[in-house]
Amino acid sequence: MYRSKISGVGKYLPENVVTNNDLKQWMETTDEWIQERTGIKERRWIDTETSDDTTSIMGAKAAKQAMERAGISKDDIDFIVFATLSPDMYFPGGGVRVQELLEMDTIGALDVRNQCSGFIYGLSVADQFIKTGMYKNILVIGSENHSGGLERSTRGRGVTVIFGDGAGAVVLSRSEDESTGILSTHLHSEGKYAKELALEGPSTGRWVDAIMEENDPDDTSYYPYMNGQFVFKHAVVRFSEAIVEGLMTNHLNKEDIDMLIPHQANLRISQFIQKKFRLSDEQVYNNIQRYGNTTAASIPIALAEAWEEGKINKGDCVVLAAFGSGFTWGSAIIKWA
Ligand code: UT7
Repeated sequence: MYRSKISGVGKYLPENVVTNNDLKQWMETTDEWIQERTGIKERRWIDTETSDDTTSIMGAKAAKQAMERAGISKDDIDFIVFATLSPDMYFPGGGVRVQELLEMDTIGALDVRNQCSGFIYGLSVADQFIKTGMYKNILVIGSENHSGGLERSTRGRGVTVIFGDGAGAVVLSRSEDESTGILSTHLHSEGKYAKELALEGPSTGRWVDAIMEENDPDDTSYYPYMNGQFVFKHAVVRFSEAIVEGLMTNHLNKEDIDMLIPHQANLRISQFIQKKFRLSDEQVYNNIQRYGNTTAASIPIALAEAWEEGKINKGDCVVLAAFGSGFTWGSAIIKWA
């Protein structure tokens, strides 16, 4: 059986920076509130007046960088896994659009709908395809255009201030070195909490209503809803469980972690996990301060940045962990190759 390894990482962030103070033009909020509760100082939101970026376009840009760094061309890619909660279109998904944008051959493209855990789910799917020998090189992309669908008003502030746009990608490649690469992935879900963090419309359930009630000012079903404190409480438990499960599977201890890259949901969640596992600042990577929560893109963006900053090196034990809407959560244990 083969092993899979991350052979290239890439990221793309839209240029337009929106600071906490900039948000005041749309809603009653303060820099203090946002920083204290989330750690976020600024995020990137696509400026539709000056940029053509979409979820798929950003994903393709991040993928291009990942392929360059892997030293391979688009013709070497066998399959695409694309994770997002904010596709350009209701259907088809963004994976096929990336295939078109990168002018790739008629390879398969799969979309993953697992929100904040989307990248880990995507990585796990790609890992299985490589391990069985079916494919050699797979693009795993996470990309989000949140800004197009957030409610920019005081009513929506609890959610709107948290989310940012961006994309991250990795090339997952076949390796014959048994001791390095993706050691294991762990996936979970708990659908009974689906509505605690969700966007209900448009959907087949809300489709006709959407047209009929277009002018209903009280209808918030087209904006994301989050029961923040409920999600927070579950996040800290599930993050920890997923990390422990990954470590135990590989007979590793928390001391073996060289770099933990948690999904960037809230700096307070990352700090809670850091404290619980008694990790140093150098062992946990956070960039939510600059990008907000970019959902499926947050882990691959952080992974790319940590690698660019020389914080991930050959032989390092890198742990990825995520929790979010679904609820879904998971982890990946990687020995960097
Ligand atoms: O990525 C997927 C997983 N997501 C998560 O894990 C997120 C988990 N949850 C959280 O991170 C936090 O719950 C939030 C950051 C979303 C919210 O923080 P909180 O400490 O739970 O605040 P809250 O929602 O309980 O709101 C507290 C107060 C409320 O006012 P009252 O009712 O106490 O008068 C809100 O109306 O803060 C108010 N508020 C704001 N004030 C200023 C809510 N949003 C804002 C805002 N600016 N943007």
